[in-house]
Amino acid sequence: MCGIVGYIGKNDSIKPVIEGLSRLEYRGYDSAGISYKESSDIITLKKEGKLDNLKSEIKKHNINSKIAIGHTRWATHGEVNDVNAHPHQNELFAIVHNGIIENADRIKSELSSKYSYKSQTDTENFLNLLTSKYEKLNDVRSAVLETFKEIEGNSAFVVMCKLTNKLWAIKRSAPLVCGIDAATRDLYISSDPYALVGFANKIYFPQNEVLCECDPSKVNDEIQFFELDGSASHRYELQKKDLNLNVSEKGIYEHYMLKEIHEQPTLIKSLVDYYTTGEGLESLKSIDNKFKRVHIAACGTALHAGYLVKNFLEKENKVPVQIDFASEFRYRNPLLSSDELGVFISQSGETADTLACQELCSESKLKTLSIVNVEGSTLFRDCNYNLLIKAGVEIGVASTKAFTQQVLVGLILSKYLKNELNNDDFKNELSSLSSKVNEVLDRKDEIKQIANEIYNKNGFIFTGRGDHYPIALEGALKLKEIAYVHAEGYAAGELKHGPISLIDENMVNIALVTPDLFDKTFSNAQEVKARKGIMVIVGTENNEQLSNIADYYFGLDYSGLSSTKPVLTNVVLQLLSYYIAKLKGTDIDKPRNLAKSVTVE
Ligand code: AGP
Repeated sequence: MCGIVGYIGKNDSIKPVIEGLSRLEYRGYDSAGISYKESSDIITLKKEGKLDNLKSEIKKHNINSKIAIGHTRWATHGEVNDVNAHPHQNELFAIVHNGIIENADRIKSELSSKYSYKSQTDTENFLNLLTSKYEKLNDVRSAVLETFKEIEGNSAFVVMCKLTNKLWAIKRSAPLVCGIDAATRDLYISSDPYALVGFANKIYFPQNEVLCECDPSKVNDEIQFFELDGSASHRYELQKKDLNLNVSEKGIYEHYMLKEIHEQPTLIKSLVDYYTTGEGLESLKSIDNKFKRVHIAACGTALHAGYLVKNFLEKENKVPVQIDFASEFRYRNPLLSSDELGVFISQSGETADTLACQELCSESKLKTLSIVNVEGSTLFRDCNYNLLIKAGVEIGVASTKAFTQQVLVGLILSKYLKNELNNDDFKNELSSLSSKVNEVLDRKDEIKQIANEIYNKNGFIFTGRGDHYPIALEGALKLKEIAYVHAEGYAAGELKHGPISLIDENMVNIALVTPDLFDKTFSNAQEVKARKGIMVIVGTENNEQLSNIADYYFGLDYSGLSSTKPVLTNVVLQLLSYYIAKLKGTDIDKPRNLAKSVTVE
């Protein structure tokens, strides 16, 4: 979703801000803007659409500036256009904002007679309130604090003022970091540490409602923190070790999604080493395993991984598991008890609903565990225990490698709790999985061929049973998010309770018919075939029953695989979605309307 980058120092401010914004492009946005200070003027440039539009605008100006703030906007209040893009500026201030101001209407009704509103955004309320506070207090720091106190909802703000060479940043339940380059003493602010890689080598994570004041004139004390009452604050963390945030390039691949799909065999292998011999083992050992029940909450693809984690924990460990959409869990007054464990699965570690569930569990005295990719993310910092999925930076909005790693970390947890993590059978299975994923990647032309045949059909129903039901959900989600076609995932046995009425010669059924529950799933596929549905079967290889009813058949060798079969099947669906989207000509890595990290509810 929205991205923030700020710079203040001795050098050109535009370059790091634009570089930071390009790194945040993957999060999803629909307009971009920048405000910079030149002499004692603030100049704002902002453009609807891609960052390139803003870059072209910047080229028209001969800029000499040492202070800038930039923003990529994912619209919440007001349509996508230049005016609603951030930063928002008046005679005194320029500000950028991530999140939602929940009491915007009330603030506007109080201020609109005195201050003008140019945009339809909620953000301008902060700007006008800040101006009114400054007029009374005559001090920017106090004005920012007083303004923030009156803002309801989860947000992060960065403020630049025409009268001084400082930047201020403050947040509530929204990501925000600030950093310093220890050599040059240049200062940075961002909504994502990834934007600061290679710029700042000391990164601070302020807690909620802590103001960061960046002032390059304060030698060796350039970043200071303040509580809402104006007193000095120590509620921030300094990054303890290098964050694993290498900048990712597409390399030989046309899209990040394709590259990330191809990374999976290697990632699977290194995950095993990490959890059997490395730091990962220490993180498993840190978990207090005396919990009576588990609650899992997550969103989208991470939730689909959670369904498999639930199956592992219930089947293998006999622990009851409750699983919910994070957006539902937080409001359904779940029955929580301190002898239970909250498990939160997330690639970004910044998903607003998932964070709210973690907070809810913490308040109810549950221990909380994250299965997370981004080390140092809010979820990572807020949980008692963390199991990193070690997927590396995932840029494609459509989550692929993160799903695989989330499922496998869930399985590793289950094996660890059963004392079977070091069993050769398990290690061999993961090594075999890695080779079999490679084999699927080598057969991608076959998948491309199937995509060619079906990409222009009306709708797609993905079906599976048992551990392949979450894969049906995930396959459908992937297809709809990147190919913009109607796709649904169903438990195969549920078709006849309604959705089967959709089946005709234009409806594609992607049936996952695998060795587990083969007969049951096969008969569900026959029911679809009898109604002339287009039958794509992904599952058990070299099977005559399947080849007889399939219009298109992609067989998989599941030998040696037990719990990890769904991971292998899913790779086929990842590639199928990718090639269908490619034929449709969509923006695969940044699909319309979507954001990589969903930081609003
Ligand atoms: C996956 O392809 C999606 N883009 C989306 O469902 C995603 O998994 C979801 O928003 C959760 O994100 P998180 O893993 O960062 O919490």
